[in-house]
Amino acid sequence: VSLQPHNTFGLPARAAWYARIEAAAQVPALLADASLGALPRLVLGGGSNVLFTRDFDGLVLHVAIPGIEVLAEAGDELTVAVGAGENWHGFVATALARGWYGLENLALIPGTVGASPIQNIGAYGVEMRERCEWVEVLDFASGGQRRLAAADCGFAYRDSCFKRDLAGRVLVTRVAFRLSRTPRVDARYADIRDELAARGIAAPTPRDVFDAVCAVRRRKLPDPATLGNAGSFFKNPLVTAATAAALRARFPELVAYPQPDGTVKIAAGWLIDRCGWKGRSLGRAGVYERQALVLVNRGGADGAEVLALARAIQADVRARFGIELEPEPVAV
Ligand code: EPU
Repeated sequence: VSLQPHNTFGLPARAAWYARIEAAAQVPALLADASLGALPRLVLGGGSNVLFTRDFDGLVLHVAIPGIEVLAEAGDELTVAVGAGENWHGFVATALARGWYGLENLALIPGTVGASPIQNIGAYGVEMRERCEWVEVLDFASGGQRRLAAADCGFAYRDSCFKRDLAGRVLVTRVAFRLSRTPRVDARYADIRDELAARGIAAPTPRDVFDAVCAVRRRKLPDPATLGNAGSFFKNPLVTAATAAALRARFPELVAYPQPDGTVKIAAGWLIDRCGWKGRSLGRAGVYERQALVLVNRGGADGAEVLALARAIQADVRARFGIELEPEPVAV
């Protein structure tokens, strides 16, 4: 099976075996099969966070579990359980249309609901973990399902236990969100504030924030349907306050955000931009013209070309700033 339509970078790769999972109950049955159960496994959602560097000689489990269901309501708060295969942006738009607020800042993020907890997706001042109630997983070893409360998911910036101790051991089947019927508007992020101001909106509704986020993303980030990419290719590195101060002394225009824990988050896009990479290419892989943190497939690139570009960028950033950039997408 070709995986090219199943990754937003549009990279060529093939899977020896492929199964589309529409219900959690399919998985234990598949794994009970003597030949399939022993194969290496790869769980795939929307393919917006993978970098295929070669064919996958195992079983791809493509999660397509549907469903959006209100499980509980108390006052103006509600718990909504969502199938892992639901498209993330589709769910955000549905929630807004039904008057369930809290996810507007996360509009237009590519991928599925099931992938959202893996890297704790975040944008414009909100992270998924702030709205998550629990994550339901299917355990490959036992075939059983269980729920992890959000507090037990090890959520951190672009990180969770699903990337660490549970990596390769579970498949996310559903995610529950705690949303509110009372509008919660968070327009602190500069890009959103500016966009709302440009639209002459002083008291934004959740719909206004949703529209502003969509407009900013469409302006700054390439649409995978027309230009292959996986969003930000690197995480914004976290450094100590001392390191940040030393960097700032050398580069007064450094873009850095102090964190509650005393560390400082550096804008990787700025570091890459300063190294002169914005808009440049290496082979058929390139750095997006409007956001240096996004690597793109200029047409026909393979995973090795994207990796070569990523390594060249890492080497330059290391040489110039002494900072190690960590890729976000998972290399397969
Ligand atoms: N900057 C530059 N040059 C560039 C890009 C950025 O100088 O080419 C500087 C600018 O000063 C800009 C600042 O860096 O103001 C931050 O840029 P931006 O607001 O675009 O955010 P980011 O830190 O590059 C992060 C997330 C994005 C998310 C935005 C908005 C990560 C790895 N990326 O990007 O998430 O949409 O903030 O919240 O944390 C993704 O994960 O795929 C993603 C797109």
